[in-house]
Amino acid sequence: DDSIRDEEKIDCYPDQHGASETSCTARGCVWEESNSDVVPFCYFVNELYSVSNVQYGSHGATANISLKASPYSGAFPSTPVKELQLQVTYHKNEMLQFKIYDPNHSRYEVPVPLNIPSAPSSTPESRLYDVLIKENPFGIEIRRKGTGTVVWDSQLLGFTFSDMFIRISTRLPSTYIYGFGETEHTTFKIDMNWNKWGMFSRDEPPGYRKNSYGVHPYYMGLEEDGNAHGVLLMNSNAMDVTFQPMPALTYRTTGGILDFYVFLGPTPEFVTQQYTELIGRPVMVPYWSLGFQLCRYGYENDSEIASLYDEMVDKKIPYDVQYSDIDYMERQLDFKLSPKFSGFPALINRMKANGMRVILILDPAISGNETEPYPAFTRGVENDVFIRYPNNGSIVWGKVWPDYPNITVDPSLGWDHQVEQYRAYVAFPDFFRNSTATWWKKEIKELHSNTQDPAKSLKFDGLWIDMNEPSSFVNGAVPSGCSDATLNHPPYMPYLEARDRGLSSKTLCMESEQILPDGSRVRHYDVHNLYGWSQTRPTYEAVQEVTGERGIVITRSTFPSSGRWGGHWLGDNTAAWDQLGKSIIGMMDFSLFGISYTGSDICGFFQDAEYEMCVRWMQLGAFYPFSRNHNTIGTRRQDPVSWNKTFEDISRSVLETRYTLLPYLYTLMYKAHTEGSTVVRPLLHEFVSDRETWNIDKQFLLGPAFLVSPVLEPNARKVEAYFPRARWYDYYKGVDINATGEWKTLEAPLEYINLHIRGGYILPWQEPAMNTHLSRQKFMGLRAALNAEGRAEGWLFWDDGKRINTDQYYLARFSVNQTTLLTHEKFNNYLTGTAPLYLGYIDIWGLSSSSITNVSISWNTNNEEVFANYNSTTKILSVNMT
Ligand code: NOJ
Repeated sequence: DDSIRDEEKIDCYPDQHGASETSCTARGCVWEESNSDVVPFCYFVNELYSVSNVQYGSHGATANISLKASPYSGAFPSTPVKELQLQVTYHKNEMLQFKIYDPNHSRYEVPVPLNIPSAPSSTPESRLYDVLIKENPFGIEIRRKGTGTVVWDSQLLGFTFSDMFIRISTRLPSTYIYGFGETEHTTFKIDMNWNKWGMFSRDEPPGYRKNSYGVHPYYMGLEEDGNAHGVLLMNSNAMDVTFQPMPALTYRTTGGILDFYVFLGPTPEFVTQQYTELIGRPVMVPYWSLGFQLCRYGYENDSEIASLYDEMVDKKIPYDVQYSDIDYMERQLDFKLSPKFSGFPALINRMKANGMRVILILDPAISGNETEPYPAFTRGVENDVFIRYPNNGSIVWGKVWPDYPNITVDPSLGWDHQVEQYRAYVAFPDFFRNSTATWWKKEIKELHSNTQDPAKSLKFDGLWIDMNEPSSFVNGAVPSGCSDATLNHPPYMPYLEARDRGLSSKTLCMESEQILPDGSRVRHYDVHNLYGWSQTRPTYEAVQEVTGERGIVITRSTFPSSGRWGGHWLGDNTAAWDQLGKSIIGMMDFSLFGISYTGSDICGFFQDAEYEMCVRWMQLGAFYPFSRNHNTIGTRRQDPVSWNKTFEDISRSVLETRYTLLPYLYTLMYKAHTEGSTVVRPLLHEFVSDRETWNIDKQFLLGPAFLVSPVLEPNARKVEAYFPRARWYDYYKGVDINATGEWKTLEAPLEYINLHIRGGYILPWQEPAMNTHLSRQKFMGLRAALNAEGRAEGWLFWDDGKRINTDQYYLARFSVNQTTLLTHEKFNNYLTGTAPLYLGYIDIWGLSSSSITNVSISWNTNNEEVFANYNSTTKILSVNMT
């Protein structure tokens, strides 16, 4: 049909191996060659399903969807499901669900708990949306009632539902779509030009169109008028997404059902809040986890860490958390302390006595053929925790770090050869099982308090879980590979890295069996993307149980709702300039995904860092919620004390700025946890009516008020920064920069990062110190940056920073106008303990009154006169109460 324009063509032959005219027409599609390498040659002209029995009710709608008796249905990649049920539920005024499933045979559904209201609470008058079920071709249309904008319209050809291949396309209301991961994005906004990528969790460093560690089938879309919506496809099978300039989006997944949730916002922040209301709010982090952190793969022994620590202290560079990567383990075996790290327990105690904290890595895979006793494995077998082949077959063995030789075997012989050189086979715990969680917690407890040899106890404060895609160094299994050809090479192989090798490339065989807590058996094929998700909660609980404190877990593989229990670093990046900007985009993506505690390896993981890049990265990374410098074995040192005095001075100064702002950052983390607001906040979340912000991804906000405009390029001593319509103050000077709704070229000498505060906000801050244990003893301040109306407001959440589920906290909103600053206490139960809370400073920026005569503070019942200073040039009023 010639009337179909290129951008409207829905690909009928996305298969890995290309189509021919014959294979295309056999599917009932049209073949039309062009000289484009992106427009599909083979596209749909016929629909495959028809709709009947459409019924609308007060809280939803239903319909039957049936496969047409067409000659083409035989061309489905796998057995078609002939009768389908559509069920739409209007759960809330801002949220609805639609589900397409097989009413006659139950199929795998994602076992991730969601907070779905037990009864729909929406009302016809207040619902933000209308739903229409359309026929010929079948489609669902979701319209925003207030504006008439259609946010979802799947009335497009190509809808398919077969056992191992499900496809649905939708028109998009604009080309401004954000999200879908985990994939490296070069822009925050998704490129609609026939762009596509796969989602299947994989130990894959971020790279162009590559499927990396986590899976988030979620996007946020902007409508032309700036309203925002979100869409989650709750499906955990290997899938891909394709965007085309219509604009439209096609999902292709290899199993499960279609289970969509749509959030109507209408602002980007509301969308995120509604999404995290469904999947669960981000975890509340301990205060110390907002301190700076040091790590590397390849510390030789504990003395290397000790001298690093001593040098950091000596050079007075703020830092809170020291890591050990797999080096602390004997032959990289979980729960076994390496003899080279026999001084580590004492070092941990020494650092902790000075207020430091320690995070250790743990990998899921457990060595299973040790010659010496290895209780972690033996107890695992006793408790039946490891993944096996179906019907209680044998353990599925892989190879990972355990026993991996520390010396490179001859690199010219290649990776596979190297992997053959060592002996240990590993088993993969099935974290879905309650028995596994119990076993895992016990092993973690032993690590923390070693009952055999108390001197080996490692008093860590948090855990870093890695390799949980799960990653294996062999494809499928050793010694003899996988057995189920169809599951490992499904009839439709999504657009994935190493797709030629099938789904089991660098991971387990897809036929491996996992057991859900209710005892039902599922294939790894269906739950592969949930492996890291399933490990995060038991690990987080273990940290809390053994330390008695809030603690933290950082996980590499994530899925919707992982943020409830953990943070995420962006994986194995490279020490290269392009990775600075990509880290901002990666954090913004994870803000949309409901994971607030994020950051990338500062100065890069692979390859040697270069001086200037590492300077710029320390400056940018000082504003990551998760701020950690980390790199791989064999690369040069890149920590702040490994360069020169200038580097140390720059690092100290920018980290002092970070520490100064921690009360603000902590309050943002609290708001994320309680309300689902974002911490790393794209500018468009605050200024959506300003379309210029829709493309901005080289700057970001922390919360509503703190703007970071980093240098991301070599040799640059200036930076172009956008200032949306508001009043903006130079962070260092407290002075209005007179920029609003415009781009500015800012000076950015090497030792300097541009930071601005938005008028209208009050930021709590604290005098910095060498770590948060010490900074928490210092004076706190309030910095109010007035907006054009002379007003500002802000929040402070404060507690001891480490207690679990405390009601012992202080929460207040502050407001200020030209003459008065008020505290509105929401909750006042902070137990001072070792760190009382003293307000030492108040600064008001942008105060234009010329005749300040006196300032008084009402503090409990005393009305005290305090020392204040007003500078009419800078327009800053400063009160010092220290
Ligand atoms: C892969 C992780 O992504 C990386 O951060 C870590 O250093 C290595 N594994 C070694 O544990």
